[in-house]
Amino acid sequence: MSVRRLDKVQPDSFKLSRENLKWAKAKIKEYPKGKQASAVIPVLWKAQEQEGWTSEPAIRYVADMLDMSFIRVLEVATFYTMFHLSPVGKVAHIQVCGTTPCMLRGSEEIIKVCKKRIGQAHKVTADGNFSWEEVECLGACTNAPMVQVEKDVYEDLTPDSINKIIDDFEAGRTPRPGPQIERQFSAPSGGYTSLTDPALYDGSAIKKKPAAKKKVVAKKTPVKKAPVKKASAKKAAAKVAPADQHKPQGLKAARAGGPDDLKLISGVGPKIEGILHSLGFFHFDQIAGWKKKEREWVDGYLRFKGRIDRDEWVKQAKSLAKGVK
Ligand code: FES
Repeated sequence: MSVRRLDKVQPDSFKLSRENLKWAKAKIKEYPKGKQASAVIPVLWKAQEQEGWTSEPAIRYVADMLDMSFIRVLEVATFYTMFHLSPVGKVAHIQVCGTTPCMLRGSEEIIKVCKKRIGQAHKVTADGNFSWEEVECLGACTNAPMVQVEKDVYEDLTPDSINKIIDDFEAGRTPRPGPQIERQFSAPSGGYTSLTDPALYDGSAIKKKPAAKKKVVAKKTPVKKAPVKKASAKKAAAKVAPADQHKPQGLKAARAGGPDDLKLISGVGPKIEGILHSLGFFHFDQIAGWKKKEREWVDGYLRFKGRIDRDEWVKQAKSLAKGVK
């Protein structure tokens, strides 16, 4: 059960920096006159970004700024667990969801790891780097159990994977957010179980409707149904298996030094990474170099329906190739 109380030790005062004040004033202007209170969450968030946590003076400052009573801003700050009411670790503040779905899927084991690695909840480690707390549902119940670290969530956790995430933070790495198992976002683990027919997505399902009508007059032309189906199946197959002339050139094996972790590309999980390897793609710079037709080829091969461009794999791969996460 999460406890939301102001910290016993508070600073004497709070003031937004000049730059942040300018930002806050511009944000408040985005709301109609008399509705400045609607800016309470972004302005509180900016205050927290500045100080690292949300203190009582910061809450009073925001209340004055937005012409709200202190209690109303306090209600907001104590309701949303995105606001840290005590100082938190500089490297990572781990918020463990302990609500029922996460609890049933093992959040108590995750909490045990946090206690062992970090210590008591709401207490920052001696080096100032880590802290943790239990919070209520963070809205990722499908992938329970999960934790949130600032703006990222880590899902489908086990004691091993949370340990690895803490190891990564300790080593100065940013762990890959999202499901920590072979799962695409919040799709069913183990792959799709319904709506798997490609004809649902290439238009041939719609074209099948006239064929269904022919069923009514099947006595006259009973054999016409089969060619219609075959034509649709051919078209579907043609779309599913794109022309090989646009297939990007892959490598026989990863270069010396081993493959890049392609899972750092948002939208690439362990399964897709395996497929990319099988196609000869092991490195960020390979993906960064895909031309439009080549992207379309890989997208068609993976049956992604445009997801490679929507997720901007090439842009992501370019940044990762340069060493920017
Ligand atoms: S119960 Fe944990 S995210 Fe909803």
